[in-house]
Amino acid sequence: MDIQTEVLIIGGGIAGLTTAYKLLKAGKKVVLVEDGYIGSGETGRTTAHLASALDDRYYFLENIFGEAATKLIAESHTAAIDEIEKIVTDLNIDCSFKRVNGYLFLHETDKDENLNKEFRATQKAGLQTYILKKIPVITGGKNQRCLAFSDQAQFHIMHYLQGLVKGIIALGGTIYTQAHAEDITKEGAKVNGYTFSAKHIVVATNSPINDTLTMHTKQHAYRTYVIAGKVSKGTLPYFLLWDTGDQESKWVTQPYHYVRLENFDDQYDLLISGGEDHKTGQADEEGIPQSERYKRLEAWTRNYFPMMDDISYRWSGQVLEPVDSLGFMGKNPGDDNIYIITGDSGNGMTHTTIGAMIICDSIMGIKNKWADLYSPSRITLKTTGDFIKEVGNMASQYLDWLTASDLKSTAELLVGEGSLLSSGLKKIAVYRNYDNTLNAFSAVCPHLGCIVQWNKDEKSFDCPCHGSRFASDGTVINGPSKTNLHKINIKNSL
Ligand code: FES
Repeated sequence: MDIQTEVLIIGGGIAGLTTAYKLLKAGKKVVLVEDGYIGSGETGRTTAHLASALDDRYYFLENIFGEAATKLIAESHTAAIDEIEKIVTDLNIDCSFKRVNGYLFLHETDKDENLNKEFRATQKAGLQTYILKKIPVITGGKNQRCLAFSDQAQFHIMHYLQGLVKGIIALGGTIYTQAHAEDITKEGAKVNGYTFSAKHIVVATNSPINDTLTMHTKQHAYRTYVIAGKVSKGTLPYFLLWDTGDQESKWVTQPYHYVRLENFDDQYDLLISGGEDHKTGQADEEGIPQSERYKRLEAWTRNYFPMMDDISYRWSGQVLEPVDSLGFMGKNPGDDNIYIITGDSGNGMTHTTIGAMIICDSIMGIKNKWADLYSPSRITLKTTGDFIKEVGNMASQYLDWLTASDLKSTAELLVGEGSLLSSGLKKIAVYRNYDNTLNAFSAVCPHLGCIVQWNKDEKSFDCPCHGSRFASDGTVINGPSKTNLHKINIKNSL
């Protein structure tokens, strides 16, 4: 069953599906393959803020890229929200899309003057923003000034994807799920052992799986946490809310909190609150284990929204933070017909939609005014400070080769848990299955040799260097690693 098509898209999240839909509308023949199921990667974990209020400050972007480019950045995110609204209307998607206001307020570690600075920068960038004396949507905690952004939006991401899938099928597109792509070349890819040939290949897998030495040095993986609890309907208006992030954090990204409200049923809305990020595989570096992060997030949220009911849902996700804050969308460096969409940052919904617009134009031979700005080949010289800090952090992860291991022997390992142990000079990642058997692997990440760490919350082995993740059976669930952890046999006595 070898397949030939014009465009092969790898990845069934918002990036891949939006690109597929747009190219089909433009008349191209498209086949999309997804390793798992539609939205089963990071897209299904987003809190779906549709914002031109970016999570890196506009005054920071202006400093890096200059005024004219910052205007284009604002314009592109505004256009992405409009594009999503248009797709929702055209395909008649029932995904609770609504326009809402967004409010940005200062984290307690941030300076008052920075809100004014951000106000001026957003105005220069052409956005509709206002300084308000109080945050209109909070009912607890210390109320304070905020920067309001009009015309932001929100939607239910999985319902949106469902609508896109229907649109793609109606236009003659083909989607394969549980279809694993590998050996990606300019001719196509192998998918579940079959040859899929195409003129253009779009890799929309969150972290590019065709990457060898380029993209993973330009972005860094962070884990973020989310909780959701009910509030009685009508108590709060629909809104987006963010603080400006912890200025004293050890992480370059200065993790921030993000909140919004989603329709739940006739009686309740769901308050969705996220934050407490840390670099992937490094939760303990701050002395705050993963389980504690949910508690901290709940305490922060209850302070501002004391009416929130018990926590109904909690989950975590992975965010790729580009060194200069902008996503990487367009031709893969060194390739002419392979495209990537990555570097979602905290604005994945708009970044990926911009990526779909740029790639669709590029394949159709249309000049896109944002293409250079988001080019994966760009060199942004002014990011050196943060870049060096992140590279230092990455290099220090290789030292895990030398540290004492977490476990003395597998006898200490409970069912459903994983850990690392040492055997001579080897580091071994072990997981105890519910039937008491052990899975054992080399703890060396197949990508570039860092030591993976056990993620108790997600029950995965995560690589602290570039964010590859592996299930408890060793299967790769997040690139850039293309291969599974290497299985090894261990003696029970170990
Ligand atoms: Fe690069 Fe593991 S993801 S070394």
